[in-house]
Amino acid sequence: MSGVAHERTVLEADSLSLRFGAIHALRSVSLRVDEGQIHAVIGPNGAGKSSLLNCLSGFYRPQAGSVRFCSKDISGLKPHRRAALGIGRTFQGIQTYSSMTARENILSGFHARMRTGFIGGLCYWGAVRHEEETFTAKAEAIIGFLELEEMRHAVVGDMPYGIRKRVDLGRALALEPKVLIMDEPMAGMSTEEKGDLARFILDIREGLKIPVVLVEHDMEVVMAISDRVTVVDFGEVIASGTPAEVSDNPRVIAAYLGGAKS
Ligand SMILES: Nc1ncnc2c1ncn2[C@@H]1O[C@H](COP(=O)(O)OP(=O)(O)OP(=O)(O)O)[C@@H](O)[C@H]1O
Ligand SMILES: [Mg+2]
Repeated sequence: MSGVAHERTVLEADSLSLRFGAIHALRSVSLRVDEGQIHAVIGPNGAGKSSLLNCLSGFYRPQAGSVRFCSKDISGLKPHRRAALGIGRTFQGIQTYSSMTARENILSGFHARMRTGFIGGLCYWGAVRHEEETFTAKAEAIIGFLELEEMRHAVVGDMPYGIRKRVDLGRALALEPKVLIMDEPMAGMSTEEKGDLARFILDIREGLKIPVVLVEHDMEVVMAISDRVTVVDFGEVIASGTPAEVSDNPRVIAAYLGGAKS
């Protein structure tokens, strides 16, 4: 177990095991994300970090273990149902539509929330239009939050990588998530772009009160912004605690230096 769950626990994985044939991607992995936390998941390449995130968001189905969201067992729910409940995520790489503007991309994020849905939307155009107006106002709020005002009408394909990733984040925020899962959001970014994104992630925790689960390889960033760190190696949790606690842990040091594990 990752610890005793309490009222403030938002997302919890309990003893997840996931196999792909002979590969044991996760071995009884537990994780607990509380309100107000930036929770980093770190570990060497192939350790199982993305697999864990995919089990949380429902893209992978573990053979054993359970996932709870706000105390509700969601282990059986498909990804879109989990997204509708409030589990938002950004993916590795770029997810934006390159021929659309920043605002259009953010607006596209609202469609997962639309009450009317696509087929219903064809029948009830008035209801859709009302929702669109509400979403346009909310998109503008996200544009302000992410400081994208100057670029709102620019085509995303022409933007620098770091800005495109910010638009990506805007799309995820459009879901009004109760928790946000991010898989290596800073990969491929310049130091300046990483700094900007780190600031927005802190603002998401502080200003929007959305806890964040973050896979990140840049240890400087992880140590600077995380409240909790879970370290995974060969599909197992080898340490969990504050950044200071895990960075002093001999098993963590050994895993990162590639030496023998204690
Ligand atoms: N869909 C899949 N099919 C088969 N094997 C998979 C699949 N997804 C992950 N794996 C395997 O599971 C193990 C864990 O992979 P995972 O992608 O979770 O690692 P990771 O910690 O995210 O690594 P990285 O830092 O390189 O992104 C690896 O051995 C990987 O090859
Ligand atoms: Mg990965």
